[in-house]
Amino acid sequence: MAPRPVMSLKMKINMNIGAEEKKHVARLLSFLLCGEKVAHRCSVNQAKLCTDDQMKRFLIKQSRQERFHAVTFQSAILLLAPKGVSTPAKNQMQQYETLINNATDNHDLYSSVVGLQVILEGMGDVVLSHFDHGIKQRDLGFKKIRRAILSQEDSHHEFGLYYLKNNTSPAAPSNHADDYLSLINEMLTSLHGLFDFFDEDSRCYVAEFNHSLPEQIHKNALGHHSNT
Ligand SMILES: [Fe+2]
Ligand SMILES: [Fe+2]
Repeated sequence: MAPRPVMSLKMKINMNIGAEEKKHVARLLSFLLCGEKVAHRCSVNQAKLCTDDQMKRFLIKQSRQERFHAVTFQSAILLLAPKGVSTPAKNQMQQYETLINNATDNHDLYSSVVGLQVILEGMGDVVLSHFDHGIKQRDLGFKKIRRAILSQEDSHHEFGLYYLKNNTSPAAPSNHADDYLSLINEMLTSLHGLFDFFDEDSRCYVAEFNHSLPEQIHKNALGHHSNT
């Protein structure tokens, strides 16, 4: 099937910024795109695994929304950098997907929700909100789509927090909270050059992200902690 025309998304991007800036915005979007693809594939797998109808419906809806986010970011990247850009932290994102896939392969929905909706989307929230602020400051446009994506991402993260509060971790040593967290820290640290360009401090992202996580993640008590 031919790719969807870029402007069918009715994105209005202000192209009146410097070439270097366009490239850097495209690189950041490319990192986010990678995360959207992971979130799409993972929520598809979670929906297959899920036995609760309401949760299954939410996950199917999430997977569609993640695909929409991916198409949106891909289209913006094409507009900003038609020749393409390198993707920062790609290896770490691939390793992260492997961890979540291991959880779903082991039928460990709890660990996969911790990995996707709680931790990865928690980090996505922090990066997206800073990015959104930067876009507003630069008057880059695509306001409506930005708003829609942010509110959908919020609902995915909220779902993860709700799930964590109301479910117990299975007593299997398959909850990779430590591995998830160290990969996220590596991702954020490796983005520091990009953040510098936008006068942002990657340490603030790490601190904000850690602050946003629920207490039991910090306690790293996933394998043996019951919170019901
Ligand atoms: Fe998304
Ligand atoms: Fe999401």
